[in-house]
Amino acid sequence: MAISEEAGASVTEAQIAVHWREEDYIYPSPRFIGQANAPDPAIRERFSEERFPECYRDYADLLDWDTYWHTTLDTSHPPFWKWFAGGRLNACYNCVDRHLAKRANQAAFIWVPEPEADLVQNVTYQELYRRVNEFAALLQGFAGVKPGDRVTLHMPMVPDLPVAMLACARIGAIHSEVFAGFSGTACGGRMADSGSKVLVTMDSYYRDGKILDHKAKADEAVAAAKEHGMEVEKVLVFRRRSGQYLSQTPMVDGRDFFVDEVIADYRRKVVEPVSMPAEAPLFLMYTSGTTGKPKGAQHSTGGYLSYVAGTSKFYLDIHPEDTYWCFADIGWITGHSYIVYGPLALGTTSVMYEGAPAYPDAGRPWRIAEQLGVGIFHTAPTTIRMLRKLGPDEPAKYDYHFKLMVTVGEPIEPEVWRWYYDVVGKREAVVVDTWWMTETGGFMGATLPALEGMKPGSCGPGALGIYPVLYDEEGKVVEAGTGRAGNICIRNPWPGRMLTIWGQPERFVQTYYSKYCHDKQSTDWHDWPFLCGDGAMQAMDGYYRILGRIDDVINVAGHRLGTKELESAVLTVPEIAEAAAVPVIDETRGRVVEMYISLKPGLSPSPDIENKAKAAIEREIGKVARPKNVWIVPDMPKTRSGKIMRRVIAGISNFADVGDITTLANPEVVEAIRHQVYAEKNARGEAPRPLTEKELEEIKAFGRAE
Ligand code: WT7
Repeated sequence: MAISEEAGASVTEAQIAVHWREEDYIYPSPRFIGQANAPDPAIRERFSEERFPECYRDYADLLDWDTYWHTTLDTSHPPFWKWFAGGRLNACYNCVDRHLAKRANQAAFIWVPEPEADLVQNVTYQELYRRVNEFAALLQGFAGVKPGDRVTLHMPMVPDLPVAMLACARIGAIHSEVFAGFSGTACGGRMADSGSKVLVTMDSYYRDGKILDHKAKADEAVAAAKEHGMEVEKVLVFRRRSGQYLSQTPMVDGRDFFVDEVIADYRRKVVEPVSMPAEAPLFLMYTSGTTGKPKGAQHSTGGYLSYVAGTSKFYLDIHPEDTYWCFADIGWITGHSYIVYGPLALGTTSVMYEGAPAYPDAGRPWRIAEQLGVGIFHTAPTTIRMLRKLGPDEPAKYDYHFKLMVTVGEPIEPEVWRWYYDVVGKREAVVVDTWWMTETGGFMGATLPALEGMKPGSCGPGALGIYPVLYDEEGKVVEAGTGRAGNICIRNPWPGRMLTIWGQPERFVQTYYSKYCHDKQSTDWHDWPFLCGDGAMQAMDGYYRILGRIDDVINVAGHRLGTKELESAVLTVPEIAEAAAVPVIDETRGRVVEMYISLKPGLSPSPDIENKAKAAIEREIGKVARPKNVWIVPDMPKTRSGKIMRRVIAGISNFADVGDITTLANPEVVEAIRHQVYAEKNARGEAPRPLTEKELEEIKAFGRAE
C-alpha cells in the first residue's frame, strides 16, 4: 500500500504522482469487436447505478431456475445480503444436464496430462454427466453425504476434480477444495474448521516430470484434523492410472477406499439434482488474511453462479463454440469461477492441463494451444514472466491464434504486459486484466474487451454493476486523477460476493465492513462499503491501478500467503523464539518470502535450525510457501512497545532504505542485520536491482496493518 498515516505521507503521495507514467490505450481489432458478446456500449447503461440491483437479472437469466426468485436483492439482514431470494436452482444441472440436448458430444473438458506422450482425453458433456452422476451416487450411498454436509477435496488438476465438485453440487453438499500443493496438515486444519468427514483425494499426479505421492498427504490431513478434534470417516482415493497405486503409503482399512473400485456399485446410476435455495452455500474456499487462521469464504449457489456466468460471457467473451484455456489451478478461486462454474454454465469447451507451465520446455503451452485450437487464454503474471524468461521467442514458433487473453492474480508490470500482448497474443488478441479476489467470487475491475481500451498495468474500471470507491484512512474519498492512493472498496452489493466466513459471521462483518460502515443497523446497502483489502489508485479516465494487499498478505506467484500463518508455522520449531516474514521482489514469482528468526536464549544459529524452519513451513502450509532465505538474527528490530518492525527488515531484504529507525527500542541491531544479510546475499549471488518507485512504496508500507 502506498499511503500511510505516518508523517511524511504527503511526500510519498506526491512522489507517486510524479513517477506515474500513464500508458497509452490499445484498442481491440474490428474483427474481435465483430464477434464479441458485448459489442454495444449500451451495456454500460443497462448496468448503471440507477438500474441497480435489477441489472443483475441479465446475469441470473443466463441460468435455468427451478423456481424464479421474488426479490432480486434482500437487504433485511445487513450485510448478509440475499440475492435472488425465493429462487431455487441446482448448479450441477446448470453446468451439465441442461447442455445435453444440444451438446452431448461436445467436449466439456479437454484434459492434457503433463507427460507429453500420454493421450489427451476429451470429456464430453455426456461423459461428464455420467461421471458426475456416478460419483454423486457414491457420495450419497457409500459415504452418506447429505445436503449441507461439507466434503473436502484435495485434488490435483485432473477431470475427477470438477467431477467431484459437480457431484457435491448435484446433491446439495458443500465442497471445499484445498489446493493440491498445500500440505496435508493445511488440508486437515481446513477439514476440521469446516467439519467435513469425507476427504476426496488422489494417489499421485505429475508435476515437472516427476510423479508426486499425494496420498501421503491424506494421512497427514486425517492426523491434523484429529488434533483439532475432528474424526475423518472416509478417504476416497482416485487413482492417476487406473488399477495402479502410485503412492508409497498403505491404504487404511475401513477408512481409505479406491474410487475406481467402489464406483462399480454405482455404474449408470442417475441422481436427481437437488433443488437448492439461491443462497445455499455451494462451496468454501479458504484464504488468508491478517490473522493466523485461514478463513473459509462461503460462496452461494444462485448469486455466485449468475455472477461467474455473466462475467465469463462479457469479460472472457466465451461463446459455447470457443475452446477456452484457463491455465490456473482449480484449487484456487480462479479455477472454481473460471475453469469450472462460469465456462460450464455457458456450455463451452475448456482445456485443463495437469502440470507445470514449462514442462518439458517453455514451448509446451503454445504447442497445446496450437494442437487444440485454443482461442481464449487465461493465466497469471507469474506464469507469463516465467515463460518469457525461459522462452521469449517460443510463441512465434507455433501456429495458434488467440482472440482474447486474460491476466489475473497480481499486478502485471507494463513490460510483461507488452510481451504478453506482442509475442503471446501476436498483437491479435485483446488482453483483459482482471482484478478481484477469493471473497468477490468474480471480476471486480476489468475492461469490457470490445468496448474499453486496454491500458498496460491498469485493470480498468469497475466491472458491470460494480461501483468501486477509494477511501483514505479517515474514510474520506480519494478522488480520481489526484495521483493519491486509497483503500479500494466496492460501494454496492453484487451477486458473486461471499455470503460469510464459514462459522464466523462476526469475523466476516469485522474484516470487510467494520472499517467503513458507520451504522451497523442500517438496511440500506449504501451504508456498507465492502473493503477489498487492496491499495489502489484511480486515473482520470476511471481506470484503477492495483498496488497490492494492505493486510500483511504476501502474494507469491499468485498464491496468497498470510505473514501470520508463515510465522506461526515457523514457531512450531522449539528452538525458535520469534519470527517475521517479509516480501522480497522477485523477477518471476512477483514476490517471494524471506523469514527472519531469532532463537531462544543460549542457542546459536545453525543450518539445522534453518532447515527446520523451512521444513515447518512445508509441513504446515506447503512447498509453495517455502521461503527463499531464512535469516537467523541476534534480535528483531522492535518498537518500544515490543512490536517487530517488519518494514525495517523488509527494507534490508530488498536492499532498500530502511526508513526512520530512531523510534526503535534497539536501533543498533539494524546495522548488524543489514551487514549479515547483505554479506550472505552477496555470497549467494543475489545481486540487488534498482526497485521502481511503486515497489519501494510497497516495501516501506509493509507491516502497516499492525
Ligand atoms: C489478491 C487476491 C483474483 C483471483 C486469484 C487471486 C491480487 C488479483 C489482480 C490484478 C493486481 C491483483 C490483489 C487481490 N490481484 N488480481 N489483476 N491486478 N492485483 O485471488 O488469492 O484471493 O488474491 O490478488 O492483491 O487482493 P486471491
